[in-house]
Amino acid sequence: MNTAEPTDFIFDEPAEAAVAKAIARYPAGKQASAVMALLDIAQRQMGRRTGIAWVPRIAMDVVAKRLGMAPVRVYEVATFYTMFNTKPVGKYHLQVCTTTPCWLRGSDDVVAACKKASGIKDFGHTSEDGMFTMTEVECLGGCVNAPILQINDDYYEDLDGAKTEALLEKLKAGEPLPPAGSVIGRRASAPVTNQTTLLQDGPAAE
Ligand code: FES
Repeated sequence: MNTAEPTDFIFDEPAEAAVAKAIARYPAGKQASAVMALLDIAQRQMGRRTGIAWVPRIAMDVVAKRLGMAPVRVYEVATFYTMFNTKPVGKYHLQVCTTTPCWLRGSDDVVAACKKASGIKDFGHTSEDGMFTMTEVECLGGCVNAPILQINDDYYEDLDGAKTEALLEKLKAGEPLPPAGSVIGRRASAPVTNQTTLLQDGPAAE
């Protein structure tokens, strides 16, 4: 995996279209509000072009220049949010939520399974084959189906150790990411035992 910082970065054609759209959402003089959108566009362009979705320093400088911001203000945003990768990550970015609801529902087992299947020793590391990077993240907002493992853009929910390991083994075997969502077939955030309320139609509207 090439982890060297590139020395130049320019937005490509599809990215430029997305940048123009993002900046146009804000009134004149407030274009700095588009900073998160532009960092995301830069990260996705890196993913498209190099196979590694991250935001190198030079891309942050391009974003700063485009939005008329001091570079340090862009660095502050990029390093605060875990959604921005300021270092190269593996093909599959394993973002394990270990906040209280996920922890109570077994996130320790998810972490252990990620380590076992990938060979990664700890958070912030990338596997030797460049397939996986494991990051510890705070609440992903999916607590109702905890524990949650985010892989790239997708959430895998209701996991346990065995199901996490099986999922990663499939990726190692070259299979594509399975459909996102509950791995036990839970419908959206309905109870595991299936729907228990609103089982009858209410009175007809007059
Ligand atoms: S605590 Fe894990 S998704 Fe909220």
